[in-house]
Amino acid sequence: MITIALAKGRLAKDGLKLFQRAGIKCSEYDKESRKLIFMSDDNKYKFIMVKPSDVPTYVEYGAADVGVVGKDTLLEEGRPLYELLDLKFAKCKMAVAGFEDKKTNFITNTSIRVATKYPNIAHNYFTEKGEIVEIIKLNGSVELGPIIGLSDVIVDIVESGRTLKENGLVVLEEICPITARLVVNQVSLKTKREEINNMLINLEEALEED
Ligand code: PRP
Repeated sequence: MITIALAKGRLAKDGLKLFQRAGIKCSEYDKESRKLIFMSDDNKYKFIMVKPSDVPTYVEYGAADVGVVGKDTLLEEGRPLYELLDLKFAKCKMAVAGFEDKKTNFITNTSIRVATKYPNIAHNYFTEKGEIVEIIKLNGSVELGPIIGLSDVIVDIVESGRTLKENGLVVLEEICPITARLVVNQVSLKTKREEINNMLINLEEALEED
């Protein structure tokens, strides 16, 4: 039995579609259901639905053998996990965004405020650039930061760009591209090597068919 931690929400649906194309079908999954555990049709895989930021935790502690999670969460959580595969879906980018005219202030200002759901990514990004910033952790609707005057800029994921556009903000700097990744527990990789390798080969084949 392989336990797979799936990030609830956008990633779960596309993740299950990919597993299905890799021969792991989960007919009992229903996105409207409040159930947190779903078994694959062949009973060989257990899918657990967890909050995206908790996927690395479940995998690190071995409560799940593998996990499907965004690179943004992996970078933010920074846990010691093997990243086995770029699953290529849930494409977006991590970016610094704000008002267009912040661009000039942004370069010269030495103590700007950055609102973000990703304090570690923001801290690492600005530290590497040698810029001093004050990071304000938010849990959502980060785009409000510059509009309400809580922060000068934000660090957030940009997918379609709609949220920024509809709130009058623009991307000021791109930090890195983001996609969903398959991560694995280091012990499971040894104790369930064959099952995990087979799953990996099937997933790779499914990805090549795209
Ligand atoms: C995410 C992200 C942006 C938005 C980007 O928020 O934090 O706000 O999606 O997507 P877009 O470029 O396609 O508009 P989410 O929907 O997870 O909600 P939240 O702000 O409550 O975290």
